[in-house]
Amino acid sequence: MTQKIRVGLVGYGKAGSAVANVLSGDERFDLRWIARRSSSAELPNLPGTTLPIVSLAETSFADLFEQQPVDALVDFSSAESLHGYGEAVRQRGIMLVSAISAYSESDLQYARDLGKNTRVLCSPNITLGINFLIIAAKLLHKIAPFADVEIVEQHFKQKPEVSGTARKIAETLEVGGESITSLRLGGIVGHHEVIFGFPHQTVRLTHESIRREAFGSGAAFALAQLNKCATGFYTFDDLLLHLMTEELIRIP
Ligand SMILES: NC(=O)c1ccc[n+]([C@@H]2O[C@H](COP(=O)([O-])OP(=O)(O)OC[C@H]3O[C@@H](n4cnc5c(N)ncnc54)[C@H](OP(=O)(O)O)[C@@H]3O)[C@@H](O)[C@H]2O)c1
Repeated sequence: MTQKIRVGLVGYGKAGSAVANVLSGDERFDLRWIARRSSSAELPNLPGTTLPIVSLAETSFADLFEQQPVDALVDFSSAESLHGYGEAVRQRGIMLVSAISAYSESDLQYARDLGKNTRVLCSPNITLGINFLIIAAKLLHKIAPFADVEIVEQHFKQKPEVSGTARKIAETLEVGGESITSLRLGGIVGHHEVIFGFPHQTVRLTHESIRREAFGSGAAFALAQLNKCATGFYTFDDLLLHLMTEELIRIP
């Protein structure tokens, strides 16, 4: 049996706790610890948690990596964490999967620089489905640039801003923000739809995030693929396009 990938997870919020559920139930990974900002005295752990949850107010990443070594780090915390663990990850060659959606250009530049020494993946959209949808939409747009394009995104009532994923789709398809329609209702986790209007037909590509565990499945996919890659900086597209190309070549 191949050796399990030892993983540390940063972030234990809405997304991180769902990601922990997925990674701890996947036999390819050994989720060794979860790091968060607060101590358990400040913010209690979720009921039923058995994994070690470490507070970064009480320990440093360097100490954590020494005491409980990992092969990979998965980040679902916030943009500033990158600078807390960056050099420790670089020195130890720890693989990094970062799902942070709000990196600045200089954060991204730093992450790319880490890719000179270790394997780094940054993905503001980490579900396999949405990345597949974006590639499929891009392909159809290339084949049929004359089709009208509209993007519809639906999210829970409290989400204030236009979805970053919808903006990324718009950018990829070279349409402006006015082509995005946002609906806010109930508890929808995430719905994105790209509609291609042809003169005599309509194509709709739809992705639905049902539970936040989808982020965990995406992180697991990214870890497994990144583990096969050479040192470097990657996006989810890079990994998925590589796999899709391999599969397309096999189609008779
Ligand atoms: N790529 C994707 O598809 C995707 C999907 C979902 C979320 N995300 C990203 O994941 C991140 C978390 O989202 P969320 O909804 O789970 O947020 P959240 O509920 O606010 O949770 C954030 C978690 O990160 C921890 N944290 C924040 N800053 C930290 C720091 N400097 N060092 C260590 N831990 C820190 C917090 O610690 P405490 O618990 O101690 O406060 C908390 O556990 C965001 O950046 C979001 O953009 C990405």
